[in-house]
Amino acid sequence: MKEEVPTVLEAIRTRRSIRKYLDLPLEFEKVGRVLDAGRLAPSAGNLQDWKFVLVVQPEKRLQIAEACLQQYWVATAPVLIIVCSEPKKSERYYGKRGEDLYSTLNAGAAVENMLLAAHGQGLGACWVSAFDDAMLRRAISVPDNAKPLAVITLGYPDEKPVAPLKFELHNIVFFERYGNRVKDVAELFGDYSKYVSEAIATTKKWAENVLQKMKKVK
Ligand SMILES: Cc1cc2nc3c(=O)[nH]c(=O)nc-3n(C[C@H](O)[C@H](O)[C@H](O)COP(=O)(O)O)c2cc1C
Repeated sequence: MKEEVPTVLEAIRTRRSIRKYLDLPLEFEKVGRVLDAGRLAPSAGNLQDWKFVLVVQPEKRLQIAEACLQQYWVATAPVLIIVCSEPKKSERYYGKRGEDLYSTLNAGAAVENMLLAAHGQGLGACWVSAFDDAMLRRAISVPDNAKPLAVITLGYPDEKPVAPLKFELHNIVFFERYGNRVKDVAELFGDYSKYVSEAIATTKKWAENVLQKMKKVK
């Protein structure tokens, strides 16, 4: 059977944080593709100052869930990927800015690539960065020259979360200078999604009213 593969834009739009997983093993080819997507992420100066630690052992997953401030659902994912940066590499080329900023941004780009690669293969994933640094370091033996930045949970999803609210473009996009709001996003970008969802909501309300009236007539 041919698998439906979402386009990049669809994948970005429909990706959700998944925190409930089926008790199913994960094919390693799929995990490999997720890791490869991380490997191919952009990084400042192409330094690729990251390492990915793959964890499947149940006891270790539990230890990591503990380290993630007792987010025990983390351990129910069959695969965890801990994304670590190597900030000294970026510092060598870019000084403090490289160490404090670029190395974190680079790892963030790798994480998002991996989340999308997971979703694109029908897998669920979640970015988890609420953790006790020392505990997580101990659990997977992270050396001093590396820094754990994110735990990615990976597995077959056992939930379909509703999309959380995201700001509309007109709330977050400024034109030419900070603070200058785009008045008509639809006109500028040809993005009519806001009007379409408003129209759907109005039509739904209208249909509900009609239904209510019909019930009364009966
Ligand atoms: C830096 C960062 C840290 C996060 N840490 C956690 C976390 O510790 N636990 C968790 O359940 N979700 C965590 N998330 C996931 C967010 O809660 C989630 O992305 C957000 O609610 C939006 O939902 P969505 O991913 O479905 O769009 C984190 C996301 C980011 C980017």
